[in-house]
Amino acid sequence: MNILLLGSGGREHAFAWKILQSPECSRLFVAPGNAGTAEIAQNVALSVTDFQGIHQFILSESIDLVVVGPEEPLVKGLVDFLQSKPETATLPIVGPSKLGATLEGSKDFSKRFMQRNGVPTAAYETFTADQIEAGLAYLEKQSLPIVLKADGLAAGKGVLICETLEEAKSSLKEMLLEAKFGDASSKVVVEEFLTGIELSVFVATDGKSYKILPEAKDYKRIGEGDTGLNTGGMGAVSPVIFADAAFMQKVEERIVKPTIAGLEKEEIDYKGFVFIGLMNKNGNPYVIEYNVRMGDPETEAVLPRIESDFVGLLKGIATGTLSDYELEISPNYSTTVVMVSGGYPGSYDKGFPISLPDKTPGSVIFHAGTAHNAERKLVNQGGRVLAITGFGSELKEALDHAFATVQKISWEKAYYRRDIGQDILKLMK
Ligand code: AMP
Ligand code: GLY
Repeated sequence: MNILLLGSGGREHAFAWKILQSPECSRLFVAPGNAGTAEIAQNVALSVTDFQGIHQFILSESIDLVVVGPEEPLVKGLVDFLQSKPETATLPIVGPSKLGATLEGSKDFSKRFMQRNGVPTAAYETFTADQIEAGLAYLEKQSLPIVLKADGLAAGKGVLICETLEEAKSSLKEMLLEAKFGDASSKVVVEEFLTGIELSVFVATDGKSYKILPEAKDYKRIGEGDTGLNTGGMGAVSPVIFADAAFMQKVEERIVKPTIAGLEKEEIDYKGFVFIGLMNKNGNPYVIEYNVRMGDPETEAVLPRIESDFVGLLKGIATGTLSDYELEISPNYSTTVVMVSGGYPGSYDKGFPISLPDKTPGSVIFHAGTAHNAERKLVNQGGRVLAITGFGSELKEALDHAFATVQKISWEKAYYRRDIGQDILKLMK
């Protein structure tokens, strides 16, 4: 098969690495890719939102399967666009339709979907600018902290957890009346704060049947001990000790089944991944959010644990034959440590040469924000630069492998969290 993978992050390098392990892949193209995907596949200078360009490329390279990494092209309707063109109308694509992608593209849509389908989630109300008075009055009656969410995509910044009523009121005004997050906050979801331990659950679906992939824990804050600003993700661990069989059974019965049944009942065309961000509150799962793609950096920890043929899984999703696929998962641990540019998630300097080790025992280096400069040297280009995944039959062993490789990597002002996985190690004692 000729496969086109869209995206340029650590997630896409991990997808490319996994796809190339399959005998079913003959040629792999990554658009636009990064310096890591350039080493193992063919990068294509196409933006993920250049729908015309993507369509042209599919025809010129006889692409048999398209795999969409990030949410943006999905929310903007790439799948519908390709389906509207005669030459690509039936092309297998991993990624939901525009309506399906609204589960991530609009928090209000996704909350209403959960309510209609009986999926447990935090209590909420949605407000627009002309309902500001009702919104402020609603805030008065809620307990603190309270969560304010911009309805639309806001580059991971649209969620505010307000500790005081004053802060909640002024934030609601800024979001609705002063477009704090632009168009994304023209609607705001005001939501109950859930306490518990957060978990990322990944489901592959062809819209009718599903397979639950390994779960992971993500480390979102920039600072050790979960302090400081939110980031795209600083590390991941899979499997997760507190997601035992009994808990995962509840996740499947209460969340996964009604979600997939809801997609089918509401005739939402969905062939792709559902990433369910959830809270384990006293042993019961509640959905925080749906994403319509795999997580990053969770993918870098989750995909290496899949032992069955990965292209077979992608084909099953895209062609509606997932029920015939046998998913095999390794019981071993994968742990991912993300190395970022100094200053991230604020502003940071780019273009520092990166030195990588020749050997990475028990681990693999995935590239995210890397590029080659004019002298063909590898340099940092984005905030999250590299994701290093370590493997082991024990969590400690996987972490040791990841950190041993991290310590052999350097560039000016590189930063990473040394405490990835430490909380889980403690829970296991
Ligand atoms: P999001 O940008 O939607 O991924 O949300 C960012 C983070 O905010 C989540 O990963 C949670 O840690 C936190 N969060 C969102 N909604 C809630 C909630 N209802 N209760 C507690 N924490 C939340
Ligand atoms: N790691 C969280 C995300 O991909 O949104």
